[in-house]
Amino acid sequence: MAYKILIVDDDEAIRYSVSRMLSEEGYEILSASSTKEAMDVTSRESPDTVLMDIRMGTSSGLETLRELKKIDEKLPVILMTAFGTTQTAIEAMKRGAFDYVLKPFEPSELKELIQKAVHARISMHQKVNFEPGTAINLEQDLIVGSSKKMQEVYKMIGQVAPKDVSLLIRGESGTGKELVARAVYHHSARRDKPFLPVNCAAIPEALLESELFGHEKGAFTGASSQRIGKFEQCHEGTIFLDEIGDMAPSTQAKFLRVLQEKEFQRIGGTQTLRVNVRVIAATNKNLEEEMKKGHFREDLFYRLNTITIWLPPLREKKEDIPELCLYFLKRFSLEFNKNILGFHPAGLKALTHYSWPGNIRELENTIKRMVITTKGNLILPEDIQMPEGEKEKGPGSRIQGNIPQIAQTIFDLILEAQGRNEQGEIMDHVEKELIKLALEETQGNQLKAAQILGMNRSTLRKKIETYKIVKGVVVE
Ligand SMILES: Nc1ncnc2c1ncn2[C@@H]1O[C@H](COP(=O)(O)OP(=O)(O)OP(=O)(O)O)[C@@H](O)[C@H]1O
Ligand SMILES: [Mg+2]
Repeated sequence: MAYKILIVDDDEAIRYSVSRMLSEEGYEILSASSTKEAMDVTSRESPDTVLMDIRMGTSSGLETLRELKKIDEKLPVILMTAFGTTQTAIEAMKRGAFDYVLKPFEPSELKELIQKAVHARISMHQKVNFEPGTAINLEQDLIVGSSKKMQEVYKMIGQVAPKDVSLLIRGESGTGKELVARAVYHHSARRDKPFLPVNCAAIPEALLESELFGHEKGAFTGASSQRIGKFEQCHEGTIFLDEIGDMAPSTQAKFLRVLQEKEFQRIGGTQTLRVNVRVIAATNKNLEEEMKKGHFREDLFYRLNTITIWLPPLREKKEDIPELCLYFLKRFSLEFNKNILGFHPAGLKALTHYSWPGNIRELENTIKRMVITTKGNLILPEDIQMPEGEKEKGPGSRIQGNIPQIAQTIFDLILEAQGRNEQGEIMDHVEKELIKLALEETQGNQLKAAQILGMNRSTLRKKIETYKIVKGVVVE
């Protein structure tokens, strides 16, 4: 599924060169040379982003922008401006343009901007469901998991989404914070207005304040013209401030004022601007720690913390793993046009027993890789490869890297023993195999092995005797 970019310019040479540059990135390119044509293509093809010259023949870019926004209010429109038309571009930003680039532009700058616009577009358009049992639809996202912890999350989303209040989403990396933010937006009264994601960690500290609040011409060295910030641009919409823990304290103060008074000033400006924006913030940082270190303002924390949705790490809701695996399997099978029916039970169990430090994102990527590489129509234990980086992290962690192997051994044993239906024997087998592996990994160092296994040394010693293990070898 390639994203569609519509290029609107009456200059054919520009259309051609920009098309070439963007099709290299894998976008599908549409083009139009007039306002009328741009409107037709927009209604017919619903592009994901429009890149448009600010002046086309006789018609002004502002007019075209207005017409396009009538067709699709949530369509990101980026304007290409030449020196001298910046004022119009700024005006356009106030009227909901996504951004503008000055000609001649750096290809990398344009590509990055297009990427941001497409990301905003998907966030706004791809609905997020969270009702368990919803059918898989590639046009929509689904929050999967019926564990008790996730049911609490659904309850919170349901309660909070329709209320026009700011909220904070917390959880480790890859737990679904952005997905939940979008679910809140899609179930809120503002769902027909823009949703703008801003990643505070991705923007250099010195630029973030200007990105959010804008600046006046000459406000600082390099501020050669006025800039409209995201808050102003997102009027009546929802702003998603991701990685809020990375915001500098001076910017935090300004942000707090927006939350409390709904007003701010552009950098270097004297005029007070009022905005009506719903804020959804997210972080994976420990804000309590950050406050102690003086990196995060207490007043902002208490203001934001009133409504918090906590997303549990995957290792604390392992019962969701099979459901998530099947969901991603179906999704990627559809996307990559593969006919994969399911998992071999041993494979699925191995996936359930891994600790998933990268949470659902890591699980999603693992399944995606399996779907792409597997040959047959069943995911077999040997198709399961855990991420490379897990392998050599320090003493003992090679055991983690060997998880597929360990799990494989364990489940072979379980499957074998299940035939004989001897529970106690299964556990003994498993324990013996784990102790052998831990001793192998530590070259027979019982202290380290005991640490890895989470048992004390004397227990380990007793078990080594019981199982008759000598230096990782069972003597019998
Ligand atoms: N419960 C879930 N059901 C289905 N997919 C999920 C779920 N949670 C997360 N995902 C998917 O996992 C990936 C990571 O989620 P997301 O980007 O929302 O995480 P995050 O918490 O924002 O991570 P980070 O802190 O690293 O930015 C996304 O592709 C998302 O769609
Ligand atoms: Mg995120």
